Amino acid sequence: MKKQLLVLFIAILSGFGVNAQVKSSETNVLVLIYSQNGGTYKMAKSIAEGIQEYPNSKAIIKRVPSINTKEKLNADVEKLPIATIEELANYDGIAFGSPVHFANISADMNYFFSQSIPLWTSRVLEGKPTTVFMSAGSGAGKEAAILSFWNILASHGMVIVPTGIMGTATLDKTVPQGNTPFGATSLAGSTGTRPSPSELNLAKEQGKALARVASGLKNTENIKNVKTTSVETKSDINKTLKDNNIVLPEAPKPVGNYVPFTISDHKVYINQVALKDGKILNPGKVGATVTEDQAKEATYQTMLNVIAVLKEACGGDLNKVKQCVQLTGYFNTTPEYTQHAGLMNSASNLTALVFGEKGKHARATIGAVSLPINSAVEIQAIFEIE
Ligand SMILES: Cc1cc2nc3c(=O)[nH]c(=O)nc-3n(C[C@H](O)[C@H](O)[C@H](O)COP(=O)(O)O)c2cc1C
Repeated sequence: MKKQLLVLFIAILSGFGVNAQVKSSETNVLVLIYSQNGGTYKMAKSIAEGIQEYPNSKAIIKRVPSINTKEKLNADVEKLPIATIEELANYDGIAFGSPVHFANISADMNYFFSQSIPLWTSRVLEGKPTTVFMSAGSGAGKEAAILSFWNILASHGMVIVPTGIMGTATLDKTVPQGNTPFGATSLAGSTGTRPSPSELNLAKEQGKALARVASGLKNTENIKNVKTTSVETKSDINKTLKDNNIVLPEAPKPVGNYVPFTISDHKVYINQVALKDGKILNPGKVGATVTEDQAKEATYQTMLNVIAVLKEACGGDLNKVKQCVQLTGYFNTTPEYTQHAGLMNSASNLTALVFGEKGKHARATIGAVSLPINSAVEIQAIFEIE
């Protein structure tokens, strides 16, 4: 007997444990309404009933504040707790209810949402399931009203749960009903008691449908927190050249017993002067016969020559360049000249423009008493290629 009691005690304890665990994973759904005369509130109660019929789901009905604080609300609506805009972030799903006002949502509900900018910019409602139900008079503009509510919810990136043909199998078709594929409505202005049993049934189905989606999504990660693997966009150097109107010259031919480039261990070694169309561009000494602007132009031309030779080294495909390793600029200057770095920037900027990240390089600039064929500049370049 004692043993049986112990087994029973353990069974109760473990049952309690299961319940406790279930409770903590409950799906919490807010039913948030504005209602002046109570029609929307009646629909809200059926929505909440449907939510609670879905396993492990709990509903709470709240209202938004009235813009006109002197407005007389239905007595039951008046007693509802008032929601704050911030608390919307705390629920697993939200059903919104509003009267149809001029084929739109009520100004009070609209005003409530006008305060949702912080939620919008921080994207906290994104991916949160939602649904819309309404109370109408004649029903004029009811679908447009739901869809205008959807605009707000879509702006927040919420997952909108529609009703489709839910509840239509049991719909009393002998009288007009507020069913729509977007959400349940009630034709409060029709003769007879409204919401009708069919409208309440549809609202209940809608609540259940929302709870189902909310239960499924509640433990999923907000997309803004999920790290996306960056799509590696392979830059095309030819396109960069074209987009920036950079036309590479023909690679200058060697004028001695040497080659335009050598490749050793995937490194390309190149040396060029300011040759353009077989002549030196802006020849002479910087600080004496050559101005800084002319020297920069010569430097740009020299770097173009380097890239033209590099293209040959890559078998015609500059996309094979992995990195510009180093550039060294020699400038034919007067002894007192010191602004070599400013001149060399013409070469460095062009390299960065053409090769992007791969164009980042180490650099040296040196003044020389003279350079071959009176060029104002000579560039030595080292590139790594595939
Ligand atoms: C300003 C205003 C505009 C309305 N416009 C419409 C409308 O366009 N279409 C409609 O069917 N009913 C319209 N109605 C009627 C309400 O939608 C209807 O009375 C509704 O059931 C009120 O909901 P409540 O009882 O929750 O306040 C309007 C009512 C008001 C006060």
